[in-house]
Amino acid sequence: FTGLAAPAAAQSYPDRPITLIVPFAAGGPSDVLGRLLVQSMSQTLGQAVVIENVGGAGGTTGAARTARAAPDGYTLLIHHLALAAGATLYPNLTYDTLKDFEPIGLVNQGPFVMVSKLELPTRNIAELLAHLKANGRNVSLAHAGVGSGAHLCNMLLQSALKVKVNEIPYRGTGPAMNDLIAGQIDVLCDQTTNSMPQIQGNRIRPYAVTSTERVTQLPNLPTLQEAGLPGFEITIWHALYAPRGTPAPVLARLNAALEVALKDRQVLARFADLGTTAYPEGRRGPAEARAQLEREVAKWAQVIREAGVSASN
Ligand code: MLT
Repeated sequence: FTGLAAPAAAQSYPDRPITLIVPFAAGGPSDVLGRLLVQSMSQTLGQAVVIENVGGAGGTTGAARTARAAPDGYTLLIHHLALAAGATLYPNLTYDTLKDFEPIGLVNQGPFVMVSKLELPTRNIAELLAHLKANGRNVSLAHAGVGSGAHLCNMLLQSALKVKVNEIPYRGTGPAMNDLIAGQIDVLCDQTTNSMPQIQGNRIRPYAVTSTERVTQLPNLPTLQEAGLPGFEITIWHALYAPRGTPAPVLARLNAALEVALKDRQVLARFADLGTTAYPEGRRGPAEARAQLEREVAKWAQVIREAGVSASN
């Protein structure tokens, strides 16, 4: 360390409430995760960490808000693979995905699960895939904006089945789930953190998971690979970010508070209930988070190109 005294503000950080931007609507998986983390981080930091839902444009609106916030540690962002995919899908972003954020650390990773409204006349994944192939645009699939996790899952599914469906955008899969339960839309590919409670409540029908292995909490659900879509895989992962230029001592305080949360038995129990897993200790710091973001920007650029999805303006 150069021995330069950190700016005075960094030494007294935090001395007022912190905002954590959730770049999707309230009630969805990103929101559930954010609220879980801030309960623990508020205690560790001794200041309230307050969620602000900034939805829209597949999570890029919330990312843009973070990128232009003061780099003082009082505006943070929780985001997932949509931040990486957005670099390819949105040519007019007001931020540089790989330069304008300081990763604080990796949080969790987990599968999506393919679910439908109870009224759909399909009983298992084979029938659901046949239904999608036979009915194409007459089947409505929800997502949370171009580049969102649900949208990318739909993109992979349509590419694998060589079919086009009717895609219905929402500001998050929280609101989309409400319409699925109400029977307003037919199918949703959603993170287990959002769909698990609804599956257990028998309000929606689950079919398959998008991970390469089955999910312990949903042992009877096949993977989409087992269901005949070789190589089909999409895993959601979340990280915490601050704006570029946030002082290192502030980032270190925030990473330490994230570490406390990811070791908290209640947080880990909720993760397990919701079918998601914290990144392993020792492999989830700022450097690992930056490497993951770089890998995912490159990966989704290629996958999106192969799927032939055009950038949205
Ligand atoms: C959400 O929080 O609504 C989801 O992360 C949206 C998505 O990425 O599908």
